Amino acid sequence: MNRSGIYVNQPAGFKAFVPTSLPPHPAININENMQKLLWDATLHLARLDGMAYALPNTDLFITMYVKKEALLSAQIEGTQASLEDVFEFESGAKLENVNDVVEVVNYIKALHYGIDRLDSLPMSLKLIKELHAILLKGVRGAEKTPGEFKKIQNWIGAPGCTMKTARYVPPTPAEALKAMGDLEVYMHKKSVMPELINCALIHYQFETIHPFLDGNGRLGRLLITFYLYWRGILKKPLLYLSYYLKKNRQEYYDRLTLVREKGDYEQWVEFFLVGVIQTCQDATENIKRILQLRETHQALLGKRRISSPLAIMLLDKLFYTPLIRVSDVQREFKLSHQAASNLINQFEKIGILKEITGKKRGRRFVYARYLTILGEGTRPN
Ligand SMILES: Nc1ncnc2c1ncn2[C@@H]1O[C@H](COP(=O)(O)OP(=O)(O)O)[C@@H](O)[C@H]1O
Ligand SMILES: [Mg+2]
Repeated sequence: MNRSGIYVNQPAGFKAFVPTSLPPHPAININENMQKLLWDATLHLARLDGMAYALPNTDLFITMYVKKEALLSAQIEGTQASLEDVFEFESGAKLENVNDVVEVVNYIKALHYGIDRLDSLPMSLKLIKELHAILLKGVRGAEKTPGEFKKIQNWIGAPGCTMKTARYVPPTPAEALKAMGDLEVYMHKKSVMPELINCALIHYQFETIHPFLDGNGRLGRLLITFYLYWRGILKKPLLYLSYYLKKNRQEYYDRLTLVREKGDYEQWVEFFLVGVIQTCQDATENIKRILQLRETHQALLGKRRISSPLAIMLLDKLFYTPLIRVSDVQREFKLSHQAASNLINQFEKIGILKEITGKKRGRRFVYARYLTILGEGTRPN
């Protein structure tokens, strides 16, 4: 028994962890280092959130960050898909790794769904289950009871491991249900603890309960953004930690383990806060780079005398769909094939677009400089 919970012998001959409900006792020790991280994280978060208001098109950034987050979060669990795959899939292309891409697309849907739903529904087990149903719809998740808490025992470890060789055996279904009820109560409590710390604790607790048969990692990471958004700490859903968690995956797992084994919540909270700081810095930097790129290319269109309203609209569209075909442009702007092709050729000539198939038919063009900024860190493992 330690501060975070206890291993309980089960009649079936294994031990399952039963987490103590939040908040920890004794309370989180906010020492000087943690206090400093907390200040920094709060400052950076406010800066990022403030930036969202100054942006000409916040929705674009949210749309793009949601895509990137979905991809990275799924990659943490081994999904093999790239950002290009996601754009290709969205444009209707047929892909070989369609199951992997559908996982990402489901995640994107769940993120948008949650953000909308939080306007009318509080953070709750109901919402968590709704999100899970979307996340695991179809493909591989189907036998993993989407939208329902586990009814049989689960465990975490290397692929193919048994309960005996598992790295971690979470609470039994009955204990998990009770723990989830407590977690819901905790999320609703007026707390004196800084919300960023609460958020870190909630993610830890959710992963430790592992209430679903699958999808716990992905759902727990969704909760981070949703919790902060729901609490009004973020006015716009712009904070996504998966890049940081993917980069430091082993450490992420090890630190969750350390809370469980030693009751040391503080080291997890600090790791989480560092993640918030780095993520905000990355996001602010990326937003600046994207805005700069847009300005550069708008100016380039002007300089090369391609600045018809249509050309400017195409440039804007590329920020939403950086992979396109002539037929996409034709459809979007109601142009003839020839006119669409001419417009794209102009963009290609001045180096904004690049053809990637090398073929005469079914040509596809990529807005490479943009995709490079957006795609940082998204190579599949
Ligand atoms: N030692 C651990 N203790 C608690 N949670 C862990 C531990 N190791 C990994 N996890 C969490 O479990 C997640 C994987 O659980 P899983 O249900 O398979 O989620 P997903 O299907 O989204 O991959 C990881 O992303 C991580 O958040
Ligand atoms: Mg999994």
